[in-house]
Amino acid sequence: MVSSAAAVIVVLLAAVVAEGTKLKTFNKSYKDFDAVRDKDAFIQQGDASIHLKALQVTKDSANPSVIISDLSGRVLLNKRFRLWEDPARQPSFNTSFLINIFPKGNGSEGGGLAFVIVPDRSGPPPRSNGRYLGLTNASTDSNSTTNKLVAVELDTSKQDFDPDDNHIGLNLHSVRSVVAKPLAPHNIALASPAGKFHNVWVDYGGGRIHIYIAEQVGQDAATPRKPQEAIITYDLNLTEHVSHESYFGFAASTGDMTQLNCVLRWNLTVNHLEKDPNWVVIGLGTGIGAAVVAALSAVGLVYYCRKRRAISNPNLVGALRSLPGTPQEFEFKDLKKATNSFDERNKLGQGGYGEVFRGNLAKENLDIAVKRFSRESLQGQDDFLAELTIINRLRHRHLVKLLGWCHKYGKLLLVYEYMPNGSLDKHLFVGPDVEPLGWHVRYKIVSGVASALQYLHNEYEQRVVHRDLKASNIMLDSNFNARLGDFGLARALDNEKTSYAEAEGVLGTMGYIAPECFHMGKATQQSDVYAFGAVVLELVCGRRPGAKIGGFQLLVDWVWYLHRDGRLLEAVDPRLGDDYVGSEAERLLLLGLACSHPAAAQRPKTQAIVQIISGTVAAPAVPPFKPAFVWPAAAGPMGLETDSGSETTSNLGSGWSGQYLSRESYTGYTDSLV
Ligand SMILES: *[C@@H]1O[C@H](CO)[C@@H](O)[C@H](O)[C@H]1NC(C)=O
Ligand SMILES: *[C@@H]1O[C@H](CO)[C@@H](O)[C@H](O)[C@H]1NC(C)=O
Ligand SMILES: *[C@@H]1O[C@H](CO)[C@@H](O)[C@H](O)[C@H]1NC(C)=O
Ligand SMILES: *[C@@H]1O[C@H](CO)[C@@H](O)[C@H](O)[C@H]1NC(C)=O
Ligand SMILES: *[C@@H]1O[C@H](CO)[C@@H](O)[C@H](O)[C@H]1NC(C)=O
Ligand SMILES: *[C@@H]1O[C@H](CO)[C@@H](O)[C@H](O)[C@H]1NC(C)=O
Ligand SMILES: *[C@@H]1O[C@H](CO)[C@@H](O)[C@H](O)[C@H]1NC(C)=O
Repeated sequence: MVSSAAAVIVVLLAAVVAEGTKLKTFNKSYKDFDAVRDKDAFIQQGDASIHLKALQVTKDSANPSVIISDLSGRVLLNKRFRLWEDPARQPSFNTSFLINIFPKGNGSEGGGLAFVIVPDRSGPPPRSNGRYLGLTNASTDSNSTTNKLVAVELDTSKQDFDPDDNHIGLNLHSVRSVVAKPLAPHNIALASPAGKFHNVWVDYGGGRIHIYIAEQVGQDAATPRKPQEAIITYDLNLTEHVSHESYFGFAASTGDMTQLNCVLRWNLTVNHLEKDPNWVVIGLGTGIGAAVVAALSAVGLVYYCRKRRAISNPNLVGALRSLPGTPQEFEFKDLKKATNSFDERNKLGQGGYGEVFRGNLAKENLDIAVKRFSRESLQGQDDFLAELTIINRLRHRHLVKLLGWCHKYGKLLLVYEYMPNGSLDKHLFVGPDVEPLGWHVRYKIVSGVASALQYLHNEYEQRVVHRDLKASNIMLDSNFNARLGDFGLARALDNEKTSYAEAEGVLGTMGYIAPECFHMGKATQQSDVYAFGAVVLELVCGRRPGAKIGGFQLLVDWVWYLHRDGRLLEAVDPRLGDDYVGSEAERLLLLGLACSHPAAAQRPKTQAIVQIISGTVAAPAVPPFKPAFVWPAAAGPMGLETDSGSETTSNLGSGWSGQYLSRESYTGYTDSLV
């Protein structure tokens, strides 16, 4: 019984893993590297740097006092690619790069430059200089467990195992190449005193690697034509040699014979797997307990059944029921009764996902909010399961708590704690006869939202991006404590972009969406921070982020203008009169501006935000003029391409799309399952 259950779990997990990812093509071109702009785009390790418009894989210096012998370094693209799930399905990539290896001095122990695929960002191992090319060292070389790496070496010094001091080779977890080809017969001198440029192509697909090389006449010349014949062709099962998740980049070394190792242009195309947002909920951090494994298998069962369109299959509900720690299953008739048959008068809100009703469970005398999903389709099941699995596992005093669920007549219902004070926007934009939210309450709300974000971003076992932070998604409990809600809305809209516009109008969200989202089409922690900044300004100023004021299109621009003019506090909600704390208002306004920085990387992190709000850290310094938004230089951790690159399958589309509204996590996805 136990073993058959285990087998079922394995089968289901496999199904989940296989369906939880989709193939994407990464395709970018880099040149004119810039130390400042590309600081986050490339990981520079050991003696590597970006200098003179090139990746200096070992450092370059004309200064004779700078030692450039016995160095080792690596430069990796700051993106970990998930290359494969199933070893029967080989990954594929193509790359080409322009290099310049320039000899300096002469000695016996030399170095070289290599294109590498490595599993981690641990950097070149200690003592990987000289013959070890920044790849391995005397104690680890050839060990396929410790060196999950594949490299194409351009070697300029002869070791006992090398054919000569001018060759190209394919290296699998060792500096001893499995195949090496002298370059002299091809009229190529890698380290010629004239400082020649060489273009190298590495194509991998269908279990075979092809390597080509050609000389380029000068640094600025056009890329030479790729030779007809590969210099190395080798049957290679990449899955046996590199890690599921790997980085691409370069490694190099120098010995007592020194040289400059630089990469001046780099094109990289990688077919890789990315988590399908639909499946992110299955991602778990490390340390899964048996209960969680069981939960996973049940979720797997749910998805499995859904795929089979077995909606009426009692297994689905059965699986839900058996989820450990699952919130209560409610009887439909109880919810119907509680909401007075979903009476219009009990309706709290409506969106693309469906409707929310207020209710009271007579037995417990408990106030609840019931979210009824409008669609009966499979899409509805997605919404339901995605919301259920995420929210069920999140526990924080500033998140709206999910109490239970119900599945009846193909209709999905989620039951939440009722928030007697409704959503924040309802309190901010009230008529003149209603008393506005007081200053201390506003401060408390900002603080609560920040602590919820901190939990989602950093404290929860998997990182969660809310993606739809705005005043109407911030609920207020009876004491006006902020409670973040509506993860499900995000999910629900993923595949029905229009419904959002119909329900609220895109303008309703204007001002909450970080500028890079229009380009990337996806949300990040930084875009959550941007939305948080918009909420902070909204709360302090009592105006919508999209409010036109003082001749500005967006609230943030007006506040920035007042800041520059030294009149920041004029932004404070006039309805407060003098009833606010000036130093706190200034702190929040500066924080709001800092979070609205057009460059994602410049925005404060949630941790810092929490400290600023608590007053343990000073308010951020904000420049007098709002920096211009620059794309792609202002891109996130891996943007920053310098050429015509694009992420070909990313769902950019027109304006911001449903992609933006789905959620994502980063850690421990399938690693913990395989
Ligand atoms: C690659 O190697 C793995 C492990 O040896 C094997 O399971 C897989 O089938 C191989 N892939 C191909 C395409 O030969
Ligand atoms: C690499 O190039 C080959 C030949 O041009 C092409 O067939 C293949 O699809 C490319 N692979 C990737 C990952 O771009
Ligand atoms: C990179 O790709 C671009 C555009 O396809 C091409 O013009 C350039 O020559 C390539 N560079 C290298 C180093 O192959
Ligand atoms: C390089 O070798 C030449 C002769 O082979 C010698 O004169 C010169 O001093 C050497 N240079 C260095 C830096 O060792
Ligand atoms: C080689 O690198 C490993 C770490 O990768 C390190 O533990 C070991 O000490 C190094 N060996 C030498 C000879 O430095
Ligand atoms: C490879 O390295 C690992 C970890 O250091 C070690 O346990 C193993 O014995 C090494 N394998 C070989 C073949 O040396
Ligand atoms: C990658 O982008 C370049 C333009 O930069 C384009 O010419 C090329 O076809 C693209 N390759 C793939 C595989 O999409």
